[in-house]
Amino acid sequence: MKIIRAKNYDDLSRKAANIISAQVILKPDSVLGLATGSSPIGTYRQLVDWYNKGDIDFSEAKTVNLDEYRGLPKTDPQSYDYFMREHFFDHVNIRPENIHLPDGMAECPDSECTQYDNIVKSLGGVDLQLLGCGRNGHIGFNEPSDFFAKGTHVVDLAESTIEANKRFFTSADDVPRQAYSMGIQTIMLARRILIIISGEDKAEAVKQGFFGPITPQVPASILQLHPDVSLIADEAALSLCSL
Ligand code: F6R
Repeated sequence: MKIIRAKNYDDLSRKAANIISAQVILKPDSVLGLATGSSPIGTYRQLVDWYNKGDIDFSEAKTVNLDEYRGLPKTDPQSYDYFMREHFFDHVNIRPENIHLPDGMAECPDSECTQYDNIVKSLGGVDLQLLGCGRNGHIGFNEPSDFFAKGTHVVDLAESTIEANKRFFTSADDVPRQAYSMGIQTIMLARRILIIISGEDKAEAVKQGFFGPITPQVPASILQLHPDVSLIADEAALSLCSL
């Protein structure tokens, strides 16, 4: 595992965008696994900026997102589909047919999960997976559990995740209780993983996830077993680790 120390959120975002941009320059038809939330907003902003300057071209890139709330339509501003269009897809030349997210409104959750796994497989797997990390160590919406989930599945969101994500909603009551999430196996099969973690409130998750035992109670800890993972964390997120 490579640990890349960033001064702050802006520095972290630039460093992450550099790695994604190098990936797309070296392999224009890369399959990018993408994340939502506060962590990657600066990274997407930087990529859009470089796209506008003509430095990067997404016309052949394909994307698969990690997760989506169950029960929210794409038109809902809190859906991850909406988030991705707002922060990234609408501002670059990714072809709409190359964009994939679980459908939060799917009628049959089981077939939606199977179908999503089949999409990832049909694309040949993920070349570079971008991840954030929850305060409880979740990746995607793989919450602390007694086992590591393999493929795409429906998750009951942990109370701590509902609490953490309520800032995006009018109240905690409005946060959906379930989500679709890519499984740990799919994430671990990505050829490269880039995880970005910012802020003091994530310091414990960094300590447990990257310097503690590997356990499904801290889902990010499984990344210690991946052969090509880069953690970009800012000073605040690394504050409990003596490096
Ligand atoms: C979102 C996702 C989640 C977030 C995590 C951190 O697609 O996969 O695992 O990365 O909840 O969220 P932020 O970045 O908002 O702190």
